[in-house]
Amino acid sequence: MSRKRVAVLISGRGSNLAALIRAAHEATYPAEISLVVSNRPEAAGLSIARAAGLATEVVDHAAFGADRPAFERALERRLNTYGVELVCLAGFMRILTADFVNQWHGRMLNIHPALLPAFKGLDTHRRALDAGVKIHGATVHFVVPETDSGPIVMQGAVAVRPDDNEATLAARVLAVEHRIYPAALKLVASGRVRVDGARCHVSDGRVPDGDFIVPHA
Ligand code: GRF
Repeated sequence: MSRKRVAVLISGRGSNLAALIRAAHEATYPAEISLVVSNRPEAAGLSIARAAGLATEVVDHAAFGADRPAFERALERRLNTYGVELVCLAGFMRILTADFVNQWHGRMLNIHPALLPAFKGLDTHRRALDAGVKIHGATVHFVVPETDSGPIVMQGAVAVRPDDNEATLAARVLAVEHRIYPAALKLVASGRVRVDGARCHVSDGRVPDGDFIVPHA
């Protein structure tokens, strides 16, 4: 089985990158991380990648000013050089143009720390707490030009506790992110995900029985 060549794009901490690296160490995992790209030279995730012996590239957006297409051409060159087949955005904090996104249609994933389509954008945990939702979580989806939209591959949920603050809720959601991103990439890389309009169909995807009702009376 040939493993899909994946680039992980980061801007910061890199904990999802670390989860993907761990998963890709498994002999039967259908993807390998061929390249890690950061748009910030100081991103902590770069050290995680280097420590794992992965190829890293910095494409510093600041060097391109407001010229997004030029930034993306530089990015694209790196992806081509490494023969990248799939792109995973993992805390990548640059908006990508529609042209770039469309070029990677069906081949670019993102992880968002909320149960989409709720809480698109930033500060998802604070907004979830403010809204009083009882269930929150994270979503892996294909990237389309509209931010935090696109066919959903996988979601994971957590119960919101009455004493949660942004940090405690974020920590539990992050633990879920670290499970679902490697799992979703596995499904996509092994060809088990078919995109049909706005929806993903997963062949042989196991769906647990039951409901997730919070709180219990
Ligand atoms: C994660 O919460 C992810 O969902 C969001 O950005 C954060 C990145 O964290 N898109 P890390 O860099 O993977 O630790």
